[in-house]
Amino acid sequence: MTERGGPVRVAVFVSGGGTNLQALLDALHDSPVARVTRVISNRPDAGALTRARRAGVPTTVLRDPSDPTEVQSALADAQLVVLAGYLKLVHASVVARFRGRIINIHPALLPDFGGPGMYGQRVHEAVLASGAKESGATVHFVDEAFDRGAIIAQERVPVRQGDTAETLAARVLEAEHRLLPKVVLDLARRIS
Ligand code: GRF
Repeated sequence: MTERGGPVRVAVFVSGGGTNLQALLDALHDSPVARVTRVISNRPDAGALTRARRAGVPTTVLRDPSDPTEVQSALADAQLVVLAGYLKLVHASVVARFRGRIINIHPALLPDFGGPGMYGQRVHEAVLASGAKESGATVHFVDEAFDRGAIIAQERVPVRQGDTAETLAARVLEAEHRLLPKVVLDLARRIS
Protein backbone atom coordinates (compact mmCIF):
# COMPACT_ATOMS: atom_id res chain seq x y z
CA MET A 1 0.00 0.00 0.00
CA THR A 2 1.50 3.35 -0.91
CA GLU A 3 1.08 6.69 0.88
CA ARG A 4 -1.85 7.33 -1.49
CA GLY A 5 -3.36 4.02 -0.30
CA GLY A 6 -3.03 2.32 -3.69
CA PRO A 7 -1.07 -0.85 -4.48
CA VAL A 8 2.69 -0.54 -5.10
CA ARG A 9 3.24 0.17 -8.81
CA VAL A 10 5.43 -2.52 -10.39
CA ALA A 11 7.23 -2.15 -13.72
CA VAL A 12 8.42 -5.38 -15.38
CA PHE A 13 11.22 -5.61 -17.95
CA VAL A 14 10.96 -8.51 -20.41
CA SER A 15 12.71 -9.83 -23.52
CA GLY A 16 11.07 -13.19 -24.17
CA GLY A 17 7.91 -15.23 -23.87
CA GLY A 18 6.96 -13.78 -20.51
CA THR A 19 5.87 -16.80 -18.45
CA ASN A 20 7.36 -15.11 -15.36
CA LEU A 21 5.44 -11.95 -16.24
CA GLN A 22 2.30 -14.07 -16.59
CA ALA A 23 2.86 -15.56 -13.13
CA LEU A 24 3.09 -12.00 -11.77
CA LEU A 25 0.01 -10.80 -13.68
CA ASP A 26 -1.97 -13.78 -12.36
CA ALA A 27 -0.79 -13.34 -8.76
CA LEU A 28 -1.17 -9.54 -8.62
CA HIS A 29 -4.17 -8.87 -10.85
CA ASP A 30 -6.51 -7.84 -8.01
CA SER A 31 -3.99 -7.45 -5.20
CA PRO A 32 -4.30 -4.41 -2.91
CA VAL A 33 -0.56 -4.77 -2.19
CA ALA A 34 1.06 -4.51 -5.64
CA ARG A 35 0.02 -4.17 -9.27
CA VAL A 36 1.91 -4.55 -12.57
CA THR A 37 1.49 -1.07 -14.06
CA ARG A 38 3.91 -1.20 -17.00
CA VAL A 39 5.72 -3.83 -19.08
CA ILE A 40 8.89 -2.69 -20.84
CA SER A 41 10.79 -4.60 -23.50
CA ASN A 42 13.84 -4.18 -25.69
CA ARG A 43 12.15 -6.38 -28.31
CA PRO A 44 8.97 -5.32 -30.18
CA ASP A 45 8.19 -9.00 -30.91
CA ALA A 46 8.49 -10.26 -27.33
CA GLY A 47 5.63 -12.64 -26.53
CA ALA A 48 5.53 -11.05 -23.07
CA LEU A 49 4.12 -7.86 -24.65
CA THR A 50 1.12 -9.81 -25.92
CA ARG A 51 0.55 -11.13 -22.40
CA ALA A 52 0.69 -7.57 -21.02
CA ARG A 53 -1.76 -6.22 -23.61
CA ARG A 54 -4.13 -9.12 -22.97
CA ALA A 55 -4.07 -8.13 -19.29
CA GLY A 56 -4.67 -4.47 -20.14
CA VAL A 57 -1.23 -3.38 -18.88
CA PRO A 58 0.49 -0.46 -20.69
CA THR A 59 3.63 -1.46 -22.60
CA THR A 60 6.78 0.35 -23.73
CA VAL A 61 9.18 -0.91 -26.40
CA LEU A 62 12.57 0.70 -25.91
CA ARG A 63 14.12 2.20 -29.03
CA ASP A 64 17.52 2.11 -27.28
CA PRO A 65 17.75 0.05 -24.06
CA SER A 66 21.13 1.60 -23.28
CA ASP A 67 19.64 5.12 -23.27
CA PRO A 68 19.03 5.94 -19.58
CA THR A 69 16.69 8.83 -20.41
CA GLU A 70 14.34 6.58 -22.34
CA VAL A 71 14.40 3.91 -19.62
CA GLN A 72 13.93 6.44 -16.82
CA SER A 73 10.89 7.98 -18.51
CA ALA A 74 9.36 4.53 -19.01
CA LEU A 75 9.82 4.07 -15.23
CA ALA A 76 8.28 7.46 -14.42
CA ASP A 77 5.75 6.26 -11.84
CA ALA A 78 7.20 2.85 -10.94
CA GLN A 79 7.94 2.06 -7.30
CA LEU A 80 9.30 -1.46 -7.77
CA VAL A 81 11.15 -2.82 -10.82
CA VAL A 82 11.29 -6.49 -11.83
CA LEU A 83 13.55 -7.98 -14.53
CA ALA A 84 11.76 -11.11 -15.75
CA GLY A 85 13.70 -12.64 -18.59
CA TYR A 86 15.27 -9.31 -19.51
CA LEU A 87 18.54 -9.82 -21.37
CA LYS A 88 20.01 -6.32 -21.31
CA LEU A 89 22.18 -4.77 -18.59
CA VAL A 90 20.32 -2.06 -16.68
CA HIS A 91 21.97 1.36 -16.83
CA ALA A 92 23.80 2.35 -13.63
CA SER A 93 21.60 5.45 -13.22
CA VAL A 94 18.49 3.23 -13.10
CA VAL A 95 20.12 0.88 -10.60
CA ALA A 96 21.05 3.91 -8.49
CA ARG A 97 17.52 5.37 -8.58
CA PHE A 98 15.87 2.03 -7.68
CA ARG A 99 18.56 0.55 -5.40
CA GLY A 100 16.84 -1.90 -3.08
CA ARG A 101 13.69 -1.79 -5.26
CA ILE A 102 14.93 -3.47 -8.44
CA ILE A 103 15.12 -7.27 -8.62
CA ASN A 104 15.92 -10.02 -11.13
CA ILE A 105 15.00 -13.68 -11.40
CA HIS A 106 17.67 -16.11 -12.54
CA PRO A 107 17.11 -19.80 -13.41
CA ALA A 108 19.93 -21.20 -11.23
CA LEU A 109 21.22 -21.15 -7.66
CA LEU A 110 23.40 -18.01 -7.72
CA PRO A 111 26.20 -17.23 -7.16
CA ASP A 112 26.81 -20.37 -9.26
CA PHE A 113 25.91 -20.46 -12.94
CA GLY A 114 25.38 -16.75 -13.34
CA GLY A 115 27.02 -13.76 -14.99
CA PRO A 116 27.32 -12.46 -18.54
CA GLY A 117 26.09 -14.90 -21.18
CA MET A 118 24.60 -17.26 -18.61
CA TYR A 119 20.95 -17.30 -19.66
CA GLY A 120 18.45 -19.66 -21.22
CA GLN A 121 19.45 -23.25 -21.94
CA ARG A 122 23.15 -22.47 -21.41
CA VAL A 123 22.50 -22.20 -17.69
CA HIS A 124 20.89 -25.64 -17.48
CA GLU A 125 23.51 -27.21 -19.73
CA ALA A 126 26.22 -25.87 -17.39
CA VAL A 127 24.38 -27.22 -14.32
CA LEU A 128 24.06 -30.67 -15.91
CA ALA A 129 27.69 -30.65 -17.04
CA SER A 130 28.79 -29.80 -13.49
CA GLY A 131 27.13 -32.90 -12.06
CA ALA A 132 25.23 -30.77 -9.54
CA LYS A 133 22.52 -32.72 -7.73
CA GLU A 134 20.16 -29.75 -7.54
CA SER A 135 19.39 -26.47 -9.25
CA GLY A 136 16.69 -23.88 -8.75
CA ALA A 137 15.56 -20.28 -9.05
CA THR A 138 17.10 -17.18 -7.49
CA VAL A 139 15.59 -13.75 -7.00
CA HIS A 140 18.21 -11.12 -6.21
CA PHE A 141 18.62 -7.35 -6.06
CA VAL A 142 20.03 -5.84 -9.23
CA ASP A 143 23.30 -3.97 -9.14
CA GLU A 144 25.61 -2.80 -11.92
CA ALA A 145 26.73 -6.29 -13.01
CA PHE A 146 24.75 -9.27 -14.31
CA ASP A 147 23.39 -11.60 -11.59
CA ARG A 148 25.64 -10.26 -8.82
CA GLY A 149 23.34 -8.36 -6.42
CA ALA A 150 22.39 -9.60 -2.95
CA ILE A 151 20.25 -12.74 -3.00
CA ILE A 152 16.69 -12.27 -1.68
CA ALA A 153 15.28 -15.78 -2.00
CA GLN A 154 15.88 -19.12 -3.70
CA GLU A 155 13.81 -22.23 -4.41
CA ARG A 156 15.72 -25.48 -4.98
CA VAL A 157 14.71 -28.27 -7.34
CA PRO A 158 16.36 -31.69 -7.78
CA VAL A 159 18.39 -32.56 -10.86
CA ARG A 160 17.04 -35.95 -11.90
CA GLN A 161 18.75 -38.90 -13.61
CA GLY A 162 18.38 -38.49 -17.37
CA ASP A 163 17.52 -34.79 -17.19
CA THR A 164 18.10 -32.79 -20.35
CA ALA A 165 18.51 -29.00 -20.40
CA GLU A 166 14.86 -28.85 -21.46
CA THR A 167 13.49 -31.03 -18.63
CA LEU A 168 15.58 -29.22 -16.04
CA ALA A 169 14.57 -25.82 -17.47
CA ALA A 170 10.90 -26.76 -17.17
CA ARG A 171 11.30 -27.83 -13.52
CA VAL A 172 13.23 -24.64 -12.66
CA LEU A 173 10.67 -22.47 -14.48
CA GLU A 174 7.88 -23.87 -12.28
CA ALA A 175 9.94 -22.86 -9.24
CA GLU A 176 10.44 -19.40 -10.73
CA HIS A 177 6.70 -18.96 -11.19
CA ARG A 178 6.16 -19.75 -7.49
CA LEU A 179 9.08 -17.72 -6.17
CA LEU A 180 8.82 -14.45 -8.09
CA PRO A 181 5.25 -13.42 -7.12
CA LYS A 182 5.96 -14.30 -3.49
CA VAL A 183 9.11 -12.13 -3.40
CA VAL A 184 7.39 -9.22 -5.21
CA LEU A 185 4.49 -9.23 -2.73
CA ASP A 186 6.85 -9.49 0.29
CA LEU A 187 8.99 -6.63 -1.03
CA ALA A 188 5.95 -4.50 -1.88
CA ARG A 189 4.69 -4.90 1.68
CA ARG A 190 8.08 -3.80 2.99
CA ILE A 191 8.46 -0.71 0.80
CA SER A 192 4.90 0.58 0.87
C1 GRF B 1 13.46 -17.41 -17.17
O1 GRF B 1 14.08 -18.67 -17.06
C2 GRF B 1 14.20 -16.42 -16.32
O2 GRF B 1 14.74 -16.97 -15.14
C3 GRF B 1 15.32 -16.02 -17.22
O3 GRF B 1 14.75 -15.96 -18.51
C4 GRF B 1 13.63 -16.83 -18.55
C5 GRF B 1 12.45 -15.97 -18.92
O4 GRF B 1 11.41 -16.74 -19.22
N1 GRF B 1 15.85 -14.75 -16.82
P1 GRF B 1 9.99 -16.02 -19.49
O5 GRF B 1 10.21 -14.99 -20.58
O6 GRF B 1 9.59 -15.38 -18.20
O7 GRF B 1 9.10 -17.15 -19.89
